[in-house]
Amino acid sequence: MNFTNEQNKTWRTLFARLRPVVEEHACSDYLAGFRNLKMDPERIPSVEELNEQIAPRTGWKIERTKVRYSDAVPWYLKFSERIFMITDYMRTWEELDFTPEPDMFHDIFGHLPFMTLKQYTAIQDMFAPAFIRATLEEQENIKRLAWFSTEFGLIKENGEVKIFGAGIMSSKGEIENVVSGKVPILPFTIENVLKRNKAIYSFNKELFIFNSVEELKQELGKYFDPIAAREKIIIQRKEKIVDRELKDLKRPIFP
Ligand SMILES: [Fe+2]
Repeated sequence: MNFTNEQNKTWRTLFARLRPVVEEHACSDYLAGFRNLKMDPERIPSVEELNEQIAPRTGWKIERTKVRYSDAVPWYLKFSERIFMITDYMRTWEELDFTPEPDMFHDIFGHLPFMTLKQYTAIQDMFAPAFIRATLEEQENIKRLAWFSTEFGLIKENGEVKIFGAGIMSSKGEIENVVSGKVPILPFTIENVLKRNKAIYSFNKELFIFNSVEELKQELGKYFDPIAAREKIIIQRKEKIVDRELKDLKRPIFP
């Protein structure tokens, strides 16, 4: 896929702005993944280039989608095949520092370094088996747990607050807002997170922190494991699509 000069210019500008900020504030896993991924600062990487670094390390793959904001059902069905979708959409100049809509810069720069790390994809592997068995209410809770962990989570490293979530990582404004100390930070527990609403059109008013990726995994497991252990798949929306796609899956859905 060829991107326009304008899109590559947006990539280059955002990359140059964000790089020193993430080097200072990102968690060590992200920085290790960043080195693994070998993104070109000058232009948008191709899916082939990204998969070359991701697939052999974790078994996950990247696919592009024309959908600008994927619904959770197709999104998590792709997760069950270990496919992480990235959008073709790139934010406009006016939205350089904050976009309410996840664009390809967010998807690639924010998420994909992590996707080269097994300890991180082990967390992503937990979502689909729970989501496809969850009730509608539980699905909303799973989305909220994803929002406050892989999108907007914080991690403590050597006594310091470091950025973990891809939604913060891909926004200079959001990183500055967090490191300014203005955002209250609470422990990431199921009980704390499920009480909060996602802030889609503004910065989050509260954020959640864990001490390690392992601790995050254990906490998510408390909510996800009992749901994933159910025999029945009970996606209630779009049942027809689910039936078809489940049947069409080439890999077993439950890793
Ligand atoms: Fe995201």
